[in-house]
Amino acid sequence: MSTARIIAVGADHAGYLLKDQLAQAARDVGWTVIDCGTNGPASVDYPDFAHAVSDRIEAGDAKLGLLVCGTGIGMALAANRHPAVRCAQVRDATETRLARQHNNANIIALGARLTGDAVALDCLTIFLTTDYEGGRHDRRLAKLNPPT
Ligand code: RB5
Repeated sequence: MSTARIIAVGADHAGYLLKDQLAQAARDVGWTVIDCGTNGPASVDYPDFAHAVSDRIEAGDAKLGLLVCGTGIGMALAANRHPAVRCAQVRDATETRLARQHNNANIIALGARLTGDAVALDCLTIFLTTDYEGGRHDRRLAKLNPPT
């Protein structure tokens, strides 16, 4: 099965309501959603969900990923420990567009306590519809991981 329109989503207790809202929005425009949890208000640890989504990206099960915590910071820190992940913490449409065009971000991390629902929905829509520009950016992305 092609992963072209599959997105893996994950959140902690601070982000699961926004995650669920954005997951439904992705389904509404034809994407298949892999929901890695959490799915309730019980306190959990954000890295567990960042790693679950990142594992799906690395396994080739999903093209893109969405992570939501209180700020987006912790999720981005954890996800970017995965060599194949380029996770951008985004707060608005412009950051999201550039994260796709220039950085080929394959995960975005949103902060449910910082970014309103309408802006978050804009971010998701742009994330799903904006292509990486390639070209000069390829050389830079190739240098993201430390030299061995
Ligand atoms: C949870 O209280 C909070 O620390 C978490 O959602 C996130 O903001 C961490 O970066």
